[in-house]
Amino acid sequence: MRNAATEIEHLREKIRQHEHQYYVLAKPVVSDYEFDQMLRELQRLEAENPHLITPDSPTQRVGGQPAKEFPSYTFSHPMLSLENAYSPEEFADWARRVLQLAKAEAVDFVAELKIDGLSVELIYEDGLLGKAVTRGDGQTGEVVTGNVRTIRSVPLRLHENVSVEIRGEIFLGLKAFRNLNDEREQAGEARFANPRNAAAGSLRQLDPGIAAKRPLDFYGYAILPASPTQATNLERISALGLKVNPHRKLCRSVDEVIEFSTYWEEHRDDLDYEIDGVVVKVNALDIQEMLGSTAKSPRWAIALKFRARQATTKLVDIRVQVGRTGALTPVAVLEPVQLGGTTIRNATLHNEDEIERLGVQINDRVLIERGGDVIPKIVSVVEEAPDRRPFEKPIACPVCGGEVFRSEGEVVRRCLSQTCPAKLKEALLHWAGRRALKIDGLGERLVDQLVEKDLVRDVSGLYELNQEQLEGLERMGPKSAENLLTEIAASRSLEFWRVVFGLGIRHVGERTAQLLAEHLGSMARLQQASQEELELVHEVGPKLAESIYKFLRQPENVALIERLRRSGLQMESTAPPLSSIPAVFAGKAFVLTGTLEGMTREEATALIEQRGGRVTASVSRKTIFVIAGKDAGSKLDKARELGVQILGEDEFRAML
Ligand code: IVH
Repeated sequence: MRNAATEIEHLREKIRQHEHQYYVLAKPVVSDYEFDQMLRELQRLEAENPHLITPDSPTQRVGGQPAKEFPSYTFSHPMLSLENAYSPEEFADWARRVLQLAKAEAVDFVAELKIDGLSVELIYEDGLLGKAVTRGDGQTGEVVTGNVRTIRSVPLRLHENVSVEIRGEIFLGLKAFRNLNDEREQAGEARFANPRNAAAGSLRQLDPGIAAKRPLDFYGYAILPASPTQATNLERISALGLKVNPHRKLCRSVDEVIEFSTYWEEHRDDLDYEIDGVVVKVNALDIQEMLGSTAKSPRWAIALKFRARQATTKLVDIRVQVGRTGALTPVAVLEPVQLGGTTIRNATLHNEDEIERLGVQINDRVLIERGGDVIPKIVSVVEEAPDRRPFEKPIACPVCGGEVFRSEGEVVRRCLSQTCPAKLKEALLHWAGRRALKIDGLGERLVDQLVEKDLVRDVSGLYELNQEQLEGLERMGPKSAENLLTEIAASRSLEFWRVVFGLGIRHVGERTAQLLAEHLGSMARLQQASQEELELVHEVGPKLAESIYKFLRQPENVALIERLRRSGLQMESTAPPLSSIPAVFAGKAFVLTGTLEGMTREEATALIEQRGGRVTASVSRKTIFVIAGKDAGSKLDKARELGVQILGEDEFRAML
């Protein structure tokens, strides 16, 4: 058996060689999976031996930072957005103005597809991908290089050793989007509403390892320095080794552009990605320069948007769904209709007020519309049916028959029953979610069965399930039953704040749950706290304090918490309650920089704030301590310059 240090160094060397093969030579000799396994093994060994971590370890390349910590970057040229034209006529008006301003009889345009994704700038230095930056506000974006490096169609090295900025669109294909959503549903996580949100979520992942599992793609559409025409720009991007959308056209007239746009509006569903229009650009750079830009957008380009996908159909019924908090939401049941390649059966109606606003009744013909989102909405009533009947506001819960109530100032009605199966299903899914007790594999199908077969009556029931009961369920083999039981058992040791969040107290999100757990330290103290005491918790106002106070006093909830306690869930914070921590950092300003090994930035911030200190973003003369983690950058230099005291992570811990 080798000692840890030798083993770690050996593994690092092996990974470095594979990285060279993959990133530099683009000739991988192992599969991504095998490579991933090696990296994980190294991460595991390093986690066990944090003192052996060095800045040049391959794991430090993937070192994730919280999303809000992505560094910002100011573009050399602002990333402008585009004006929109909503019809061929509007487009023709724009083209006429272009001709006038250019004092020309005719100009050439390049028409490209407008993919609904996220624009990014890739900065290559001497042929190597140096940075990838999101659009941000157009002046300054976020540096997401780590995540963009995982996109296989973004080369890390260009075919030439040139320094260029390439802009383009990052997107998630529709197939990949559907797969991702199915996986999320299985894992009890919320589905993304559209591919764009999914791509944005992936790009802002803290952990490039997660981004790597999402098959994002990229098409380039602009390059700096630019060549004499847009057509040659696109060719240049392609010659450098990036992807350029093959569906594009050099158009000699307005009519040709409209023809291109009309064609793609009709064929948009043949593509595996979502497009919402075409982008039309003046081809010649000298004319582009002559036209110039406004503060927001260039005058030489425009987005000719497609109409939203619309269809008319019959509103067959309005069903009422019940959510975890008992909220009753009306859902439109439609006569199935084709809309953009998918069959639509339902539409959202949001709430009762929306139904009134639309004046819609059952049996009416309605106009529905789908944007990039998966679930369409009803736009208007097209024809009132002779046999139309109004939606009857539910007086009882459609699932359990329990009493419903619409409180003053609220738009929704809620089911008040504590035993409503619909609420229970939602409560179980919430409990199992990644942000709560992380019971992977407890998805919708399983929850439905558990509730319908009466195997689980509240979340504490999960901890009484046995192998035999689970094996009796559909699509449940002995192995998956065993896995689920392991997952459930593991959730017992998760942090106390997750239990607080998992309870699903109205308006108590993840962060509030953390604050409550931190401040009060235990379930017992939380249950004893008065409304006034609850209000002392940071970010808890009177309304929220009341909601928490009432929840914790309802007899069913008291009993539930007791059952959870007996099932072995964590009922105390591992950290001492805030109120008992001495304010040793009172009035002291801290700055965090680099990656801390043993704690996240949030954790470090909490530790400082608990002791009366505060954490600021930048180093100034007022800064008392700079805590420097791995790969600390300019803030560390600044601290040295100003002579601010610098602490390593260990020294910081010692102070705590
Ligand atoms: S050109 C100054 N070309 O549409 C030129 N944009 O508001 C600005 N987009 O943020 C962009 N496909 O995310 C251009 N072929 C294409 C595009 C495209 C998609 C997006 C881009 C931009 C938005 C326009």
